[in-house]
Amino acid sequence: MMQAVAQAPGRVNLLGEHTDYNDGFVLPVAIAQQTRVAMRANGGELFALHAAELGQTVRFGFAQPPADHFASYVFGCLSLVRERGVDIPPLDIEVSSQVPMGVGLSSSAALEVATLRCLRSLLALDLDDVLIAQLAQRAEIEYAHVRCGIMDQMASSLAATDRALLIDTRSLERRDVPLPAGSAVLVLDSGVARTLAGSGYNQRRAECEAAAQQMGRASLRDVESLDEMAALPDVLRRRARHVFTENARVLAASSDAEAFGRLMNASHASLRDDYEVSTPELDQLVALLQAHPGVYGARLTGAGFGGACVALCRADALHEVAPAVLPRYAALGHNGRQLVP
Ligand code: GLA
Repeated sequence: MMQAVAQAPGRVNLLGEHTDYNDGFVLPVAIAQQTRVAMRANGGELFALHAAELGQTVRFGFAQPPADHFASYVFGCLSLVRERGVDIPPLDIEVSSQVPMGVGLSSSAALEVATLRCLRSLLALDLDDVLIAQLAQRAEIEYAHVRCGIMDQMASSLAATDRALLIDTRSLERRDVPLPAGSAVLVLDSGVARTLAGSGYNQRRAECEAAAQQMGRASLRDVESLDEMAALPDVLRRRARHVFTENARVLAASSDAEAFGRLMNASHASLRDDYEVSTPELDQLVALLQAHPGVYGARLTGAGFGGACVALCRADALHEVAPAVLPRYAALGHNGRQLVP
């Protein structure tokens, strides 16, 4: 019988936030949690998508797209592969995922990449990992209607858990950046739902486009100095300054843990003050993390407006940080939890 199974991980971004849709640089690392997709030809007329975590089955065909938002990621991947001239028979598709949803760890990219990997293996398709990331991003934009950059899909398709992946989102060139020796990554959820994420994200994108245009640049990636921003209105200048300084921080990342931590702290301040995508709760959680002696640096991660924080910790203190920080965060009236490791 025709069947296949594939997996893909979520990711956490260490540096380079809101730079990918400005043709800039990002530095994600894969997380251990994966999404698993299994497929087999069902011999019927329709696709049947079963999501274990949601306990839901959705049926659809290419002429009858699913109404369900979750199914649109899978439908998008199937449709884009079909567009390439591939004949896809109706399938039973089983999805299960350990990637936390809706906190900024790219559960949707993991679903898209796992779906495309599974199709590649089922139908012996000639798709490389970069093309899988590109198709996954298109599925998200064209079928799930989220105007994202390409970081999440590149990370899910190409990153490893034991080193970060520096990606130039313009050329898609990339290189491994080892995590500083003796350090480890911790991710905590702020417990704040990312309510404004959609509208705020699109607004930031529009502001970046306006700022680049007013400076006569194709994108903010091309800005060469802070002086170029002098004539911009205040809000656009701050948005542009974040992207400019954030790109520099990614390129400055090294194997020096203390210096890496300072770059993360500076990234958070820039996201809070210049880019304005933090929340009071994220600021509190990040401040508690930064104050812990086992932490080199911490920042919000992902799009912001709620969701998770990432910290670079001393490996030998990793297991002390969350038990110290989360009760203090709870005392401020919030409900955090550890997501990674
Ligand atoms: C979301 C998007 C990414 C990226 C980040 C912010 O995760 O999907 O493309 O823009 O926000 O860095």
